[in-house]
Amino acid sequence: MSAVVLQARAYAKLNLTVDVLGIRPDGYHEMRMIMQTVGLCDDIQIRLGVPGGGAVRSNLGFLPCDERNIALSAANLFFEETGIQHGGLGIQLHKRIPVCAGMAGGSSDAAAVLRALNGHYGLPFTPRELEELAGRLGSDVPYCLAGGTALAEGRGERITPLSPMPDCWFVVCKPGFSVSTPVVFKKLDLNSISARPDTEGALEALAEGNLPKLCRRMFNVFEEYVARDRHEIGDIKHRLIESGALGATMTGTGPTVFGVFDNAELARGSSTELKSDYVNTFLVKTNKF
Ligand code: C5P
Repeated sequence: MSAVVLQARAYAKLNLTVDVLGIRPDGYHEMRMIMQTVGLCDDIQIRLGVPGGGAVRSNLGFLPCDERNIALSAANLFFEETGIQHGGLGIQLHKRIPVCAGMAGGSSDAAAVLRALNGHYGLPFTPRELEELAGRLGSDVPYCLAGGTALAEGRGERITPLSPMPDCWFVVCKPGFSVSTPVVFKKLDLNSISARPDTEGALEALAEGNLPKLCRRMFNVFEEYVARDRHEIGDIKHRLIESGALGATMTGTGPTVFGVFDNAELARGSSTELKSDYVNTFLVKTNKF
C-alpha cells in the first residue's frame, strides 16, 4: 500500500447563546444553544499506509498523543466501524484553537478527521450515520461536523441548521487560565440560575438577519458561575463593549469571551487593545465549510 496524506481543517465554534434546561436520566444536561463556526482553525494532516505510522504528533507538547486524543479516537472509531485496514496511521495536529477554552477545538479536530476519512474512502457512511458516530465521540462533535449557524439541542448533538449569521467581525479573547467542562457542569445549580437567554428572540433575529437584535440576546448561563471566581471575564466583556461591540458573552463553559462588531475598524482596534493584555486574542469572521 502506498502512503497517502490527507489535509483537513478544523474550525472553532462560538456559542451565541447557551441555556441548560435540566439534567437527563443519562447524567448529561439537556441543552439549547445557538452555535457559530469562525475562521480560527487547526490544521490536521492524516497519513495512511505508513507502517509504524506513529499515532499523534502536535505543536503543543502537553496534548496527549494516545487514545485520550480525540482526533485519534475519531480515526480509530472510523476504522473499527468500517473494517478498513489503514496500513499504518499517523496524525499531525497544528493547533491554533486554544485548548480547554470553550471553542470545541478537540471536538472540531475529531469531526474534521471523520469528514476527511469518510471522503477519502468513498463515503462509506451517510451524513446521518457519520453524525451518529460523531455523537459517540462527544456532545459537540455532531455540530462540528455540520458547522455554520445552527441550533444544538439534547446533549448538544441534535442539530438544526439556521439562517447564516449576518456579516460581522468577532474579537475572541481567552484569558490566561483554562476551565474543565465537567467541573463547570457540576458547579451549575439549576435552581439558582438567575437569568436565561431569550433563545426564541435570538432565533427570530437570525431569521430577520438583524445583527444588533441578535447581539443584544447573546447570553450564556455558565458565565456567572465562571465569572464569579475570575475577574478577567468581566474585564474582557467590559472592554469589548466599551470599544464598540454590539454584544459580548462567554462561549461554552468558558473561559473565552467574544464580542461581535459590525465595524471592521472598531473590531481591529478592540483586538489590538485586548491583545496587549491577553495574548490569545483573535480577530475572525464567520466560517462555513
Ligand atoms: O460529551 P462530552 O464528552 O464532550 O462531555 C464532557 C462532559 O461535559 C461530560 O462528561 C459531562 O460532565 C458534561 N456534559 C454534560 N451535559 C452535556 C454535555 C456535556 O453534563 N450536554
